[in-house]
Amino acid sequence: MQKLIIKGNKPLRGEISIQGAKNSVLPILASTVLLTGKTVLENCPALSDVFCACRILAQLGVKATINGNTALLECNQNDDAEISEELMLKMRSSIIFLGATLGAKGRCTLYYPGGCELGPRPIDMHISALRKMGVRITEKHGALICDTPSGITGAKINLPFPSVGATENIILAAVKAKGETVIYNAAREPEIKDLANFLNKCGAKIKNAGQSKIIIEGVAKLSGCEYSIMPDRIAAGTYIAAIAATRGEGIINRVNSEDMESFLPVFEQMGCKLYPYSNKIYINAAHRLSSVKTIRTMPHPGFPTDIQAITMAVLTKAQGTSVFVENIFESRFRHVDALCKMGADIRVEGKAAIIEGVDELSGARVGSTDLRGGAALVVAALSATGKSEIYEISHIDRGYEAIENYLTALGADIKREHILKKDF
Ligand code: EPZ
Repeated sequence: MQKLIIKGNKPLRGEISIQGAKNSVLPILASTVLLTGKTVLENCPALSDVFCACRILAQLGVKATINGNTALLECNQNDDAEISEELMLKMRSSIIFLGATLGAKGRCTLYYPGGCELGPRPIDMHISALRKMGVRITEKHGALICDTPSGITGAKINLPFPSVGATENIILAAVKAKGETVIYNAAREPEIKDLANFLNKCGAKIKNAGQSKIIIEGVAKLSGCEYSIMPDRIAAGTYIAAIAATRGEGIINRVNSEDMESFLPVFEQMGCKLYPYSNKIYINAAHRLSSVKTIRTMPHPGFPTDIQAITMAVLTKAQGTSVFVENIFESRFRHVDALCKMGADIRVEGKAAIIEGVDELSGARVGSTDLRGGAALVVAALSATGKSEIYEISHIDRGYEAIENYLTALGADIKREHILKKDF
């Protein structure tokens, strides 16, 4: 067990370069099951979710070697097609291996990924889409046993909701299917475009990724390639939030500010000065921020649910009342109790959270409940007066590469310590 110790209320100042995107590298890693030959991924973030994905790949016949931020993948087309329940439960997004394994081997056995800290994580859209493509799926004692008696065939699929994971699973099942697949109401997140760019470089024929209607023409073979993962827009937003919350200034390198257009305007409404130029963003927030009336999380290009908790942490000390409406996940306000323990004034009413800005937060001992909620506690601790201790940081390590190193580079007083179970 580890904890982060943060001494806050110190303006962050400095320059960092952003890690590769967790939500892009995971589906791209899954897609290597479909490839022959070697693949080299640059800008691969060193995250526990990435290491878990590599363990799943090993069960599917793909040898993954990670060296710093470079991943080497060698796919030996074998007929291993089962993912253990232990690994499925470790990482909820492992459902993304279903489409790729079916596309590569015509069959797959895995287990319900189960709920997670954000509430139930249903996969009904994944299953109904794959069934339309000729996949036979039987559910038995929590296992999903899938096969394709007459192979995977392209289909027209209309998603009732632009689900990111379902869009990715359909693409992964369709790239080597017989015929054409059209996805209507597809998710438009930038990570979908990154997956399609990677697969097209391997020989796939995917059109309009990033738009609502995606067309995939199945091909017979896909070969490994060299590719660099897109920058993590949510991690970039997290460090911008840390600078904003501490009234600091800094430069974030290796970002694509276009991917962040869904939330940067909110930071500008608060009063942050943001200047994107080339692949950098300069931030200056050297004064008290103002509240933002109502922020509604929506599918891209709307305000991303993944940055909701982190933005809330910044607004706890802004002048005035801010309101969030969480439209994507059922329980994504679990960070609120810990923020209130630090002195924030927040009340939750159903899907809405109402934040009354306070003058000061105080350091406290708090526990992370989920990945982005944990990052929000770090942001709040950086702006709080005094010392905070943040526990359960394995949640944070799922999506942030050595968060303490990045924040130290921005001048934060933060360190990671090992603890014995009894200390918490
Ligand atoms: C992806 O999750 C991301 N994870 C999430 O990021 C992100 O919050 C989410 O997309 C929304 O942007 C990865 O990319 C690995 P969805 P995913 O399918 O694919 C419901 C983070 O912090 N739904 O778009 O699981 C679902 O319950 C993580 O980095 C169904 O009802 O999200 C949710 O309410 C957290 N049935 C909504 O749709 C389905 O079959 C959006 O889910 C599928 C989804």
